[in-house]
Amino acid sequence: MDVHAAINSRRSTRRFKPDKVSKSLILKVFDAGRLAPTARNLQSLKFVAVTEDAVKERLRPHLNGQNYALEAPALMVICSVDNCRVMKCGEPAGTIDAAIALSFMMLRAEELGLSTCWMGNFDADGVRAALGAPETVKVVAISPLGYSDERHTLRMRKNLSEFVSFNGYYTE
Ligand SMILES: Cc1cc2nc3c(=O)[nH]c(=O)nc-3n(C[C@H](O)[C@H](O)[C@H](O)COP(=O)(O)O)c2cc1C
Repeated sequence: MDVHAAINSRRSTRRFKPDKVSKSLILKVFDAGRLAPTARNLQSLKFVAVTEDAVKERLRPHLNGQNYALEAPALMVICSVDNCRVMKCGEPAGTIDAAIALSFMMLRAEELGLSTCWMGNFDADGVRAALGAPETVKVVAISPLGYSDERHTLRMRKNLSEFVSFNGYYTE
């Protein structure tokens, strides 16, 4: 599968088959995050895989009712280790680094026949504490990882022309 095919076929998946995802596959997905670019190449990221039921139960109260994620065989918790760095453009480097890493991982997962769903609706402090991470760590995103048990409907996207302008900012 080439990158374009992975971008095209990836969909947010919220229903998973019970089949386990092997540790070696999880590591392949995480390796795509390792290879992602980071600001000043600091690589201050940590990827936590949650596969054990007992740990999933510790996360449950902090997922704001999004319990579908706990049905997936694995959860990927993407953490920024040093989240106070703000770039000259005003954006937080750690959050952006983590977002790029998870984006790369989602495409790699797609290539490996696995499905994901970016989750931003959770209590970050609660998840951090449940995983035993220090207070300096920021949980930026979570995604379930597993084999899709979902049939997707048409993808809803605006037209490209609504996103794009050349040589200046304008709307059509
Ligand atoms: C930053 C971000 C946060 C999101 N948070 C959630 C979430 O908490 N729960 C959820 O089910 N989906 C979440 N989504 C998934 C979006 O709903 C989904 O990407 C969007 O509807 C487009 O669908 P698609 O990913 O299948 O193309 C999130 C996506 C992004 C990029």
